[in-house]
Amino acid sequence: MKIVFFSSKPYEQAFFDEANKKFGFELVYFAHHLSRHTNLKSLSADAVCVFVNDTLDHDVLLALQQQNIRLVVLRCAGFNNVDLSAAEKLGIKVVRVPAYSPYAVAEHTVGLMLSLNRKIHRAYSRVREGNFSLEGLLGFDMHGRTAGVIGTGRIGSLVVRILSGMGCRVLAYDPRKNDECVQSGADYVSLPELYAQSDMISLHCPLDCNTHHLINAEALAQMKDGVMLINTSRGAVIDAAILAPGLKSGKIGYLGLDVYEQEGDLFFEDLSNDIIQDDVFERLVTFPNVLITGHQGYFTVDALRNIAQTSLANARAIEQGQICENELTTTVLRGTCQ
Ligand code: NAI
Repeated sequence: MKIVFFSSKPYEQAFFDEANKKFGFELVYFAHHLSRHTNLKSLSADAVCVFVNDTLDHDVLLALQQQNIRLVVLRCAGFNNVDLSAAEKLGIKVVRVPAYSPYAVAEHTVGLMLSLNRKIHRAYSRVREGNFSLEGLLGFDMHGRTAGVIGTGRIGSLVVRILSGMGCRVLAYDPRKNDECVQSGADYVSLPELYAQSDMISLHCPLDCNTHHLINAEALAQMKDGVMLINTSRGAVIDAAILAPGLKSGKIGYLGLDVYEQEGDLFFEDLSNDIIQDDVFERLVTFPNVLITGHQGYFTVDALRNIAQTSLANARAIEQGQICENELTTTVLRGTCQ
């Protein structure tokens, strides 16, 4: 089987090459995104392997089908960038890596919280410049504060466990209660209650039509003044337009993002010599109480090893006509929305 990769980076290729010793696929790596503008002719591939910012809408899937490509291997968990109904109608199978290291993302989430609270990102620069003043670096004990976790699946439940371990009171919201979180000490409450009572709010739900712009002006208005808002899920769960006004008014006291609504034009690339055109993003990075990382929550050796191994095992299962537990079908979406 020939698998062509899009949005591929050297740091992940090493993990795929290592995992592929067991599978023996032909792997071809392209750095550019897969989109409507990608020339798919002469690929002669059996499958494409894609990441979070590749586009797999109806037109792209149709173009893949016309090139006899019948398999999309997502090397990520989220699948909001894939039109699953179109894939099913076109006879294209879609597989993903549902969990490669929820620990990686949960630990990064708490890392953002701790850095923002204790201003470690600012202290790092100050000390390097010989500025040992503590002015502006005052933090608070997280012990005893209330943290709201929205989405208590694989990642959110670990965040609950870590924060409970730190002595936070944890409130949770999820349409499906997770008993592990209750055992960790979380109280499930309604969203308005979570908004009203939380000092820190962390988002861990998928992006779908229910969660698109879940955090909008109306939701923000219900939160405590000076709330800490953390998003390591998917950018569009927050309406990015509310962030700068929320920071300017002091409603948002701390903002930690690993994902951003328009990240497809920015993240995973070195744009340090370019003029960034996204004014919303550029304004955000000017605030001292904002810490943005470029979708690196998942980025640990453990996760990359699991991603490579599971992606190739998924491709092998489909190639051999076996049932692949990581296949995405519209049936799994029944009762939800994309
Ligand atoms: P999961 O599927 O295990 O858990 C998601 C949870 O969200 C489920 O319990 C579900 O019931 C809940 N949920 C669904 N709709 C909801 C709603 N309207 N409100 C509140 N909760 C809702 O997913 P997992 O693996 O924990 O991933 C969580 C998020 O993290 C996803 O958005 C995923 O795309 C993102 N992610 C981010 C990474 C990064 O590097 N920053 C890496 C991996 C995942």
